[in-house]
Amino acid sequence: MDKAQLLIASNRGPVSFTTAADGSLEHRRGGGGLVSGMSSVATEIDALWVCAALSDVDRRAAAEAPQARLDQIYDLDGMRVHMLDIAEETLSGAYTGVANSALWFVQHMLYDTPNKPSFGSEFREQWEDYRAYNDAFAEALVSGAAEGARVAVQDYHLALVPRILRSRRPDLRIAHFSHTPWAPPEYFRVLPNQVARELLEGMLGADRLGFHSPRWVEAFLRCCADVLRAKVDMERCTVEYGGRVVSVGVHALGADEDVLRESASEPAVADRRRTLSELAGDTKLIVRVDRTELSKNIVRGLESYRELLRAHPEWRGRVTHLAFAYPSRGDVPEYRAYTESVLRTAQEINEEFSTPEWTPVVLEVNDDYPRSLASFQLADVLLVNPIRDGMNLVAKEGPVLSERDSVLVLSREAGAADELGQDALLVNPYDTVETAQALHQALTMPETERRERRERLAEASVALPPRRWFQEQLRSLG
Ligand code: G6P
Repeated sequence: MDKAQLLIASNRGPVSFTTAADGSLEHRRGGGGLVSGMSSVATEIDALWVCAALSDVDRRAAAEAPQARLDQIYDLDGMRVHMLDIAEETLSGAYTGVANSALWFVQHMLYDTPNKPSFGSEFREQWEDYRAYNDAFAEALVSGAAEGARVAVQDYHLALVPRILRSRRPDLRIAHFSHTPWAPPEYFRVLPNQVARELLEGMLGADRLGFHSPRWVEAFLRCCADVLRAKVDMERCTVEYGGRVVSVGVHALGADEDVLRESASEPAVADRRRTLSELAGDTKLIVRVDRTELSKNIVRGLESYRELLRAHPEWRGRVTHLAFAYPSRGDVPEYRAYTESVLRTAQEINEEFSTPEWTPVVLEVNDDYPRSLASFQLADVLLVNPIRDGMNLVAKEGPVLSERDSVLVLSREAGAADELGQDALLVNPYDTVETAQALHQALTMPETERRERRERLAEASVALPPRRWFQEQLRSLG
């Protein structure tokens, strides 16, 4: 089969599958600006996108396509997609065991350290799965790449791929991008020594490493110096290791205004908007939209809202908190427990303050993209308070679609705070009193100030749209 000049590798690919009522397979293109930005470049260059089958339905689709090439069967606008049918056990160890339960927890510093983690023999087995999983990706990339092709590897699921590629195909130009934060060495070192080394050495097989924020670059460089004793130049952002010099840079992903506006003009969004307006009546709206994700700090967000209602009784009956949480990572026990605690906290608030005419919190744990877009349009305040976040695109998408000059209350620990910190109200995500005060300040902010801040936020949010974000990284490979 024809070889590609550009290859993309990511755990979750640009397409996924569901089963239709008649039992046939239906494919769904991945949503969001990032996927469509990368896809638009990929289509032009005739690229190959390698991803994993993440469900039984995906697996069936991969098995039915000749050589797991989905584009042989489905119309993907000229994009070639190779969906790897990885054994369920290997996937579970690599994705749920290592990537989501260990690497994600480390980079977001989520562990309850007196109790967890405890890296025993089960983890060692999962680490073997992670290696096998990375090998499977590398194999597909090696066989799909033309001489001198560029390869863009995404995220913590695939940290070992660059090194394997380099050893097998020194002609390739390899980039790796981390969409997560990076932990400082004092925390990164919770990982078993060998695992910590292998992750860093794996990534250093690339020519160029990318992050969303200078803070994550600095932490990564410090880990290389600490764990590998590599020669690090903090000014130039380079790592010298194993006889090669790797450059590390910031590419701060922005929102895709065109994709957002197009999606927001769909009838489904107008429909959700009507429903939300009716629900809100004449109360002000504090909105949040996240995956039901530990790092998103939804419980403390709710506690801050409770604090607002306690400290400022004048808001009772005059404000509604819309909390939209997409179900996420149900395979990880901590996520199931967290979802319970989100539901419980919302219920407690409603029990404490509800009146026959007013429901203080409307929490929905389900996936409804049109509803999210409608809530961005209608929000008076957008609350984005993660414990730690690589970037956080909700913070950038909200101001672009806002029709009521929403005020952004933003955690200083999100990558987005680098660019939006001037015009958002920055908070310490652990401090619910401070967050409540910021919510009050946002609700009482004079109109002109809201407008001016919102305009500057929207401008900063689209400074580097996904398509250019991707092109810049490819250019940095030469
Ligand atoms: C984060 C990661 C992505 C991942 C996404 C959804 O944004 O950086 O790599 O695709 O979460 O994760 P999930 O695997 O739960 O779909």
